[in-house]
Amino acid sequence: MKHNLAYIAKNFDMRADFISAEPYGSGHINDTYAATYNQAGTQVRYIHQRINHLIFKEPLLLMENIERVTSHIRNKLIATGADDINRRTLTLIPTLDGKICYIDPEGNYWRTYLFVENAQTYDEITETKQAYQAAKAFGEFQKQLTDLPGPRLHDTIPGFHNTRQRFNNLTKAIEEDSHNRAASVKADIEFALKREAMVDILLDLQAKGDIPEIITHSDTKLNNVMLDNKTSEGICVIDLDTVMPGLSLYDFGDMARTAMRPTPEDETDLSKVVAQTDMFKALAEGYLSSAGDMLTQAEKDHLSFSTKLITFEIGLRFLTDYLEGDIYFKTHREGHNLDRSHVQFKMVESLESLDNEMNKIITAI
Ligand SMILES: Nc1ncnc2c1ncn2[C@@H]1O[C@H](COP(=O)(O)OP(=O)(O)O)[C@@H](O)[C@H]1O
Ligand SMILES: [Mg+2]
Repeated sequence: MKHNLAYIAKNFDMRADFISAEPYGSGHINDTYAATYNQAGTQVRYIHQRINHLIFKEPLLLMENIERVTSHIRNKLIATGADDINRRTLTLIPTLDGKICYIDPEGNYWRTYLFVENAQTYDEITETKQAYQAAKAFGEFQKQLTDLPGPRLHDTIPGFHNTRQRFNNLTKAIEEDSHNRAASVKADIEFALKREAMVDILLDLQAKGDIPEIITHSDTKLNNVMLDNKTSEGICVIDLDTVMPGLSLYDFGDMARTAMRPTPEDETDLSKVVAQTDMFKALAEGYLSSAGDMLTQAEKDHLSFSTKLITFEIGLRFLTDYLEGDIYFKTHREGHNLDRSHVQFKMVESLESLDNEMNKIITAI
C-alpha cells in the first residue's frame, strides 16, 4: 500500500479503533481506501481518500464546496423526513481539530467519509433499470442544489466541461507535439478537427440565455452513483470533487456517454462499440422523472446532442493526453489513452447515425 493508513486515521475524529485498510474501488483519480474500525464492539467501515492535488489544484476550496453541498442535501433530506439519511448523501468525518480535511507531512490532502454500506457502484452498467436509477439520482442531485444559498461554488477545475477550451487544448497539443506522436495519429486528429462546429453549440445557447448555469456534478459516470443492493435505487451520488457551476446537459451527456457504451472504456475491438439506444431511453426517462420540471425547452431539445458532444469532448481529452505524453489519466499500457480515444470517437460516429432515433425517444417521453 502506498500510504500508512493507520497514521492517517489517527488524525480524524473517528471515535473508533483502526483495524485495517485496503485500496478500494476502481476510481481513476483519487487514492481511495476502505478502512475497518472497531467502534465500541462493532466493526464498521470508513472511506479515507487522498485527493489528487495534481488535478485539483485547490483542495481546500474543493472541500469547502463538498461540505456546503453535502450539508445542504442533508438539511433537505431532514426537512422532507427522508429515512436512511446517512446513506443518501456523503457524510464527512472531521479531523481531530475540527477541519474537513487533514494535510499530511508530505502535503497530501485527506478526507474521510462514512462508508455507504449495502450499496455499490458498477463500472459497467448492463441493465436499463440501473441506468434509469442512476440518472434519476443525478437529476435529483442537480435539483436539490438549485437553491444552495451563499456565493457561487468554486470552479474546482476551471473550464472543466468547456468544450471550446477542450478543443483548443487539442489543437495546442497537436502544434506542440511534445512526444512526436501526432504523425502516427493523423486520422484521429482529422476526425476531431472535422467536428469543431459542435463544441460551441451549448456555449452559444448559454450566452443567449436559453440554458442556465446551475450546480452540476460534472463527472456523472454511472460508477459515481451507489445503487442500493436490495432495491437498485440510486441511493447516493458520490465523487463530488467536480461539483461546480455548469450546464445540466453536461451531466446528462456524460452519463449517457458511459451508459450507452456496451464495452469497457479501453475496448480494442471497435466493432463492439455501438451506442445502445435502450440505455439512452432509460437514462432520459430516469433523468426527466426527477429533473424534468426544472429544465428549459432548449435543455430538453439538446439531450441527444449533449450525449454526442460530451462523448466527443472526452475523446478529445484522451487524444490530447496521449499527445502530451499521458500526464492526466492513469495509463496501464502503451497507447492506453489512444485506445480510449478510439472508443469515444467510435461512439460519436455511432451517435451521429442514431440522432433521429434518439430525438424521437425524447419526444415520446
Ligand atoms: N462513501 C463511500 N462509501 C462506499 N464506497 C465509496 C464511498 N466513496 C467512494 N466509494 C467507492 O470508491 C470508489 C472510488 O471513489 P470516488 O470518490 O469515485 O473516486 P475517484 O474520483 O477516484 O473516482 C467509488 O467508485 C466507490 O465504489
Ligand atoms: Mg469516481
